[in-house]
Amino acid sequence: TRVALAFSGGLDTTVCVPLLEEEYGYDEVVGVTVDVGQPEEEFEEAAETADALGLDHYVVDAKAEFADLCLEGVRANATYQGYPLGTALARPVIAEAILGVAEDEGCDALAHGCTGKGNDQLRFEAIWRDSDLEVCAPVRELGLTREWEQEYAAERDLPVEGGSGGKWSIDTNIWSRSVEGAELEDPSYVPGEEIYEWTEKPGGDTEEIEITFEEGYPVAVDGEEYEPVELIEQLNERAGAYGVGRTDSMEDRMLGLKVRENYEHPAATTLLNAHEALEALVLTQEEREFKQGIDQKWSKKGYEGLVDAPLVSALEGFIDETQTRVTGTVTIRFEGGRARPVGRDSEYAAYSAEHASFNTEAVGKISQEDATGVAKYHGFQRRLANAAIEGQKDA
Ligand code: ARG
Ligand code: SIN
Repeated sequence: TRVALAFSGGLDTTVCVPLLEEEYGYDEVVGVTVDVGQPEEEFEEAAETADALGLDHYVVDAKAEFADLCLEGVRANATYQGYPLGTALARPVIAEAILGVAEDEGCDALAHGCTGKGNDQLRFEAIWRDSDLEVCAPVRELGLTREWEQEYAAERDLPVEGGSGGKWSIDTNIWSRSVEGAELEDPSYVPGEEIYEWTEKPGGDTEEIEITFEEGYPVAVDGEEYEPVELIEQLNERAGAYGVGRTDSMEDRMLGLKVRENYEHPAATTLLNAHEALEALVLTQEEREFKQGIDQKWSKKGYEGLVDAPLVSALEGFIDETQTRVTGTVTIRFEGGRARPVGRDSEYAAYSAEHASFNTEAVGKISQEDATGVAKYHGFQRRLANAAIEGQKDA
């Protein structure tokens, strides 16, 4: 019997290997690492650890697919409590890729090393439990703690480095880098620059860039077209240099626990801000208002790892319809750790300079005086209601 393990080469997943053999009774563990844009070192660590453990090890490149999903997130202005969902959106992509390997390799079961306190167990298992394979969650099922894992690894002489980010738990992909744990668990602790890897400390320098969208998808930077992966990687570099995209938040996990989270996401912040600025130019006020609710629902499903839910297709039906006009260019200025929209242009602009200008009188059939009637009625009901309240007081 064989089990496919979501394998990073970190402490949790390394400890899972002997446990799956000894406690769960599998003959063979197949390690699967899915590339969603982690740093090179993580693949080296995974390969070395797999080698030392004598694991069959597979690496699946899912970067392009993941980048596509991130850009769907842009069209939905997707954030959850300020975080653009990097970890969350990656999980279903990773889970699908591992399931694919497990099926190809004739595995009987799937395993992950996620904590029973977190979100990731739910996101992985939502996908895996659609299949007939067994699902094993050793860390949760055996109630493992990091300390126990460290002792066990030392006792068994398992190949775990003390290094690899050291004391923090870090999760990185092209859309975001998350840092949690150790002293960061104290919400009052003010982190220093050392927790950041992608973003420089915001300084006084500024730079302007142009982002071009086609139907809500970012397709070009400064007039040059890029594939999604390249586009995102490039913006992480460029915006990161100006300290764009840092989030320090208290996050409400699905189980209800609050956790202190730190993220960096320069490209995501840049693209989300630019996209929203373009929507503000082309969508009508009622579309923008209604879309906020749609976007929030999309984001929630994204956070839950359930982007394949029928609700999401339905939401995307609305999103697609609105995005047919989200074509144009936005100028973003990187400034003081922000990615600020400072210009926007689209052939679909629902805007008329002529009508809005302070310097023109009548345009077409509309003139300033036409607003007089509206001004007389504006606030009419509240005028009556307030008068009635006053009347009761006097009585
Ligand atoms: N809390 C975030 C989420 O559920 C990210 C967690 C990332 N994990 C980590 N070990 N830093 O989406
Ligand atoms: C999660 O599952 O939400 C992440 C928890 C962790 O840091 O392992």
